Amino acid sequence: MSLINEALVSSTETFSMLKDQLKELKNEPTPFYLYDLNLFEQTLEKAQSAASKYNFQVHYAMKANSNKPILRLVKKYGFGADCVSGNEVKRALKRGFSPEHIVFAGVGKSDAEINFALKHDIFCFNCESSHELAVINELAEQQDKMARVALRINPNVDANTHKHITTGLNENKFGINIWELEDVLQLIQSLPNIELIGLHFHIGSQITDLTVFNNLCARVNEIQDWFNDRGLELPHLNVGGGLGVDYYHPDQNLIPDFESYFAIFNENLKVRPGQQVHFELGRSLVAQCGSLITKVLYIKKGRTKNFAILDAGMTELMRPMLYQAYHKIENLSSVLPEVKYDVVGPICESTDCFAKDVMLPETNRHDLMALRTAGAYGEVMSSEYNLRDKANAVYVS
Ligand code: LLP
Repeated sequence: MSLINEALVSSTETFSMLKDQLKELKNEPTPFYLYDLNLFEQTLEKAQSAASKYNFQVHYAMKANSNKPILRLVKKYGFGADCVSGNEVKRALKRGFSPEHIVFAGVGKSDAEINFALKHDIFCFNCESSHELAVINELAEQQDKMARVALRINPNVDANTHKHITTGLNENKFGINIWELEDVLQLIQSLPNIELIGLHFHIGSQITDLTVFNNLCARVNEIQDWFNDRGLELPHLNVGGGLGVDYYHPDQNLIPDFESYFAIFNENLKVRPGQQVHFELGRSLVAQCGSLITKVLYIKKGRTKNFAILDAGMTELMRPMLYQAYHKIENLSSVLPEVKYDVVGPICESTDCFAKDVMLPETNRHDLMALRTAGAYGEVMSSEYNLRDKANAVYVS
């Protein structure tokens, strides 16, 4: 295996930071995830200071990336944990998040997961159906506990994002529909071990059209009014996550515009006196801090196409294959004139393709490539398909 040092061209400025970081890594076998913890801290700091201006609380969506050094910093900057499985709750506790800063969402929580979360007295279950409410009540009764619950309501607001990561429309499986609310309220009144403490919304992910959040606020205000009309004042309002990042120009937009994002909620959400507003951000906090570093194994010249075959594939980063997601690909080794490639992985699937017809500096065996903006929903979604080894995570700061 050639040294990473040798695979880096020394001249160009564009990726110089990434290159500087890689130079220190010497013999790290590819593919691996490279995380810039400095950038991560700066991002957390910006988000936290923008949110705390309005006394907003952020629970970090652990599903985006739950690696130990990531969670350590999330906790250091005062975020809570938003979990979607019993194992995420377990990991949050293990990493030292206190139970009152843990929320547990998900459309299909198992009895074992609910029992575990009840046992540890987490802050809140985000509850997605009347059936689930009845089950949580029954399990809480068995443990002689009160379960704090926020109702996840499907507000039927279009997030204007990829259809596979839209969650807040009537056609989606998530949340309680507005027309069910009357029945759900009646049910809650008959459930002695449920304490209703809030409302929860999450309409989708990778939202770059910020006007969508204005629409969400308007709908949340209507729904809150509906609850108030029925004599219910709820202490917590959770408006989910979803703020998008710039996959096309990572270097120009390393840190998302948290100021504008939180200002929209401050201006448009009718917060009741004493009410706490919660957010569940994942991608916007961690995406730009991670790159998948991979090497070119082979170049295959076809009649109509050139293929650059990498040592990373859909097993390491499946977003392009699953959602046709774009990740910027950079050749860190070559400064030759550009050629058009299909950039593909080694997996035995035609869909194992990161990008078609991209222009890259002429690429050769052992060139080092970076797939950018891969810190969120990258490593966590990797698999061992084809009995592949799990890629390492490497941290620089
Ligand atoms: N809250 C709930 C209830 C969620 O379902 C999610 C993400 C979040 C918060 C965090 O959303 P974020 O701030 O990260 O957008 N694997 C997909 C993304 C799936 C998002 C699932 N839910 C991807 O790679 O694009």
